[in-house]
Amino acid sequence: MKNIILTGDRPSGKLHIGHYVGSLKRRVELQNSGKFDEIYVMIADAQALTDNFDNPQKVRDNITEVALDYLACGIDPNKSTIFVQSHVEQLTELTFYYMNLVTLARLQRNPTVKAEIKQKNFEMSLPMGFLTYPVSQTADITAFKANTVPVGEDQLPMLEQAREIVRSFNGLYGETLVEPKAVLPENKSCLRLPGTDGMAKMSKSLGNCIYLSDSADEIKRKVMGMYTDPNHIKVTDPGDTKNNPTFIYLEAFSTPEHFAKYLPEYASLDELKAHYERGGLGDMKVKKLLNAVMQETLEPIRLRREELAKDIPAVWEMLKRGSDKARAVAAQTLAQVKRAMKINYFE
Ligand code: TRP
Repeated sequence: MKNIILTGDRPSGKLHIGHYVGSLKRRVELQNSGKFDEIYVMIADAQALTDNFDNPQKVRDNITEVALDYLACGIDPNKSTIFVQSHVEQLTELTFYYMNLVTLARLQRNPTVKAEIKQKNFEMSLPMGFLTYPVSQTADITAFKANTVPVGEDQLPMLEQAREIVRSFNGLYGETLVEPKAVLPENKSCLRLPGTDGMAKMSKSLGNCIYLSDSADEIKRKVMGMYTDPNHIKVTDPGDTKNNPTFIYLEAFSTPEHFAKYLPEYASLDELKAHYERGGLGDMKVKKLLNAVMQETLEPIRLRREELAKDIPAVWEMLKRGSDKARAVAAQTLAQVKRAMKINYFE
């Protein structure tokens, strides 16, 4: 069996450091591992429209932003096929057939969908397109016969739903589709990076994100203003490192080399944490280190992004090439699906 990756993001905003540690970084590592036969990275514009149908211009603008973020992080169009979901119309057709294999109750029970319905105030006016996006996500994954889906933790219910649909399809119509598995980041702090304000999740609407495109000044301002332990008032007070986003970020981003370079009086993050926990270490010192780490991590990404942004038509040209390639692959799977379902009447 081939090893195939499919993954993607909704273009509803620029990507932030939560996306970076939660999935982008892993994708680049997997891409460069040489262990995969095919890699597809999808900009899920059709899915973004399920909750931004009133603002297609926003989705359109963010396709460019997400493509720039991908390229800047090291997703290489020579190794990975980067494509735009709506340009692969076979995905819509697959979704229509898969919709028969899912009940309304099952979709309503999907924890991610449930949380998003609440968050978007869709309780009284739920668009069908939004409710069924896990089904379309199954189409995205199965159209490419992907067995590996590197995503953030919030996507696990989507993968569960996809596996159920695949099993149900294969059971009814014969072995056709591949059951995918999720690949999460290994570093637990990367599973869900909290916002700079300490809220559980980074979100554009909360204004608590550090973006991959942020300037050095913006990064510094955001890091220096971060929420820490509210009970750590005096430097001598013992502090909490577990629910403290500055330490969670250090856990996700810092390396022993960073300590050697910026804070040699501590051998490791564990030593720094121990000092904070017993008291005597001020937030300022922690934030200064974190700022240095974030600057060093994000500067090369930002510079590459600025360079790439000088030629936006080239970015769209790359997306068109990728989308044409993806469409040819999805067409093959769709033909197999129709054969399996015995709706290949004119073949
Ligand atoms: N739901 C993902 C997000 O919100 C985007 C996405 C769409 C996706 N289809 C996918 C991710 C298939 C992995 C596999 O970012």
